Amino acid sequence: NLIQVERVAELRAQVRAWRAAGERIAFVPTMGNLHAGHLSLVREGRARADRVVASIFVNPLQFGPGEDLDAYPRTLEADRRQLGETGCDLLFTPSVREIYPRGQDTHTRVEVPGISDILCGASRPGHFVGVATVVCKLLNMVQPDVALFGEKDFQQLLVIRRLVEDLALPVEVVGVPTARESDGLAMSSRNGYLTPEERVLAPALYRVLNATAKAVRAGEPIERAEQAGLEVLAAAGLCPDYLTVRRTEDLAPAGPEDRALVILAAAYLGRARLIDNVCLNLD
Ligand code: PAJ
Repeated sequence: NLIQVERVAELRAQVRAWRAAGERIAFVPTMGNLHAGHLSLVREGRARADRVVASIFVNPLQFGPGEDLDAYPRTLEADRRQLGETGCDLLFTPSVREIYPRGQDTHTRVEVPGISDILCGASRPGHFVGVATVVCKLLNMVQPDVALFGEKDFQQLLVIRRLVEDLALPVEVVGVPTARESDGLAMSSRNGYLTPEERVLAPALYRVLNATAKAVRAGEPIERAEQAGLEVLAAAGLCPDYLTVRRTEDLAPAGPEDRALVILAAAYLGRARLIDNVCLNLD
């Protein structure tokens, strides 16, 4: 009984009917190739609303030139089955034309300055403009009461919180903890790019984040802990992009007075770019 629609008009008609019946709507935007992390967002949506809408849209605007837009895994049949089993009510699968009818280059863009330009935004110019634009548009299409996003993409979650606040979008943004494989690797559609040999190395990312958190908690100077973490990542066979201790609130570099910290890292491993983070509260 999972309804699937491709057109905004059909989406709106269904959501309007639920709303008229007084029901609360949760929304989980995704790019598909669903795993247990995505499904935990759907479950959290179920717990917070009467109806759960999910979307699958591989958003070309958030991929840079030379990134994996064409290779991005598309597994609609399996996704639909999992969403149905998890209690999702409606799946929105728009075409690129439905979202960008005049082409993506002339489309209105949503920019969240500052936070979009650091860390993953520095390595992937334009990425967060693409994310903010499509999320803003999807939120306007669905008009949910609550929208769920994974803490795995910590910077993305902050970009979206800021977007919703700055544009006064009438939606509650909820962050959901990272779902992990049994060896600690954060679940990700991009893990599928790893060869078996690389898959064995990948959990080093989460291990190093935890070791860095432990060192900072034990009083090691932040820069030394970051440097040590980067070295361990490289020694483990990953190519680190960054490993950095930041303030949870705005991802500014952590100072000695800051208590709520997050350690974020990105590393290349074969064809995959892996990201992960752990929070560290010093109080
Ligand atoms: P995607 O990578 O498909 O992720 C969809 C949602 O699932 C995001 O909120 C992401 O943070 C969350 N997620 C991914 N892996 C997770 C994990 N291991 N545990 C918990 N949550 C996880 O992120 C995107 O798509 C896109 O940028 C999108 C927001 C849909 C805009 O195009």
